[in-house]
Amino acid sequence: MPTALITGATRGIGRAIALRLAPTHDIIAVGRGDVELHRLLDDISAIGGTCQPVRLDLRRPDAIASALGGSSVDVLVNNAGVMHKKPLLQLEASEWHEMVDVNYNALFHVTRAVLPGMMLRGSGHIVNIASIAGRSAFFGGAGYASTKHAVIGFSESLMLEVRDHGVRVSVVCPGSVATGMVERDADTSWMLTPDDVAQAVAGILATPPHALVFQLEVRASQPRK
Ligand SMILES: NC(=O)c1ccc[n+]([C@@H]2O[C@H](COP(=O)([O-])OP(=O)(O)OC[C@H]3O[C@@H](n4cnc5c(N)ncnc54)[C@H](OP(=O)(O)O)[C@@H]3O)[C@@H](O)[C@H]2O)c1
Repeated sequence: MPTALITGATRGIGRAIALRLAPTHDIIAVGRGDVELHRLLDDISAIGGTCQPVRLDLRRPDAIASALGGSSVDVLVNNAGVMHKKPLLQLEASEWHEMVDVNYNALFHVTRAVLPGMMLRGSGHIVNIASIAGRSAFFGGAGYASTKHAVIGFSESLMLEVRDHGVRVSVVCPGSVATGMVERDADTSWMLTPDDVAQAVAGILATPPHALVFQLEVRASQPRK
């Protein structure tokens, strides 16, 4: 069975991706929340799958290297992310750095931990979760949207670099998804569900090896109420 490493697997989109891939992949689930990681392990075990929880703060490059360096992974989903939606002058430096570290810098460290093995084997698929905010601005998005623009630039450059080595890179850009990331009092009834995004990721992974879906936008089909 191929192995899929998913960051941000404790809740939201990452948890949905882990559950959707579990029937066909051995899951390595990365996140900080111990209780949530073990709940995911139980849920995957209940459907007959396997899950290795890895408790890791993605803001710590040294911890990423020691936990994930040299891992043999067939699929990497760089999903973990944080959003502080605020006008620039209200954004704390710590919030800016958290978004840059988790949404963007972690891609460098996590990808470099698993890419050598993929290159050696001549196969692998890396799926990065960006956002529609990765190509469109929004009010209060100077920090978040710029990290997601960076994810798309990173993904396309890496795709060109590694596809001749049998490694595919894709980027998924969801619209609004009903997770803990959206504002607490927001009407989520019209939004995508985390599993809608997970289904899109599974679809990309299921394409034959000679085909590559590079960039995919997933939007809610119903207009915002
Ligand atoms: N929700 C949306 O509307 C939407 C739209 C477009 C794109 N996205 C993107 O989709 C991805 C998943 O978002 P979501 O909506 O599922 O958010 P979420 O429910 O808030 O989940 C975020 C995940 O990231 C992990 N994470 C955050 N900081 C971390 C850190 N320092 N180290 C390790 N893991 C960390 C969290 O795990 P722990 O807290 O347990 O560490 C959690 O599993 C993100 O990249 C987000 O930008 C979301």
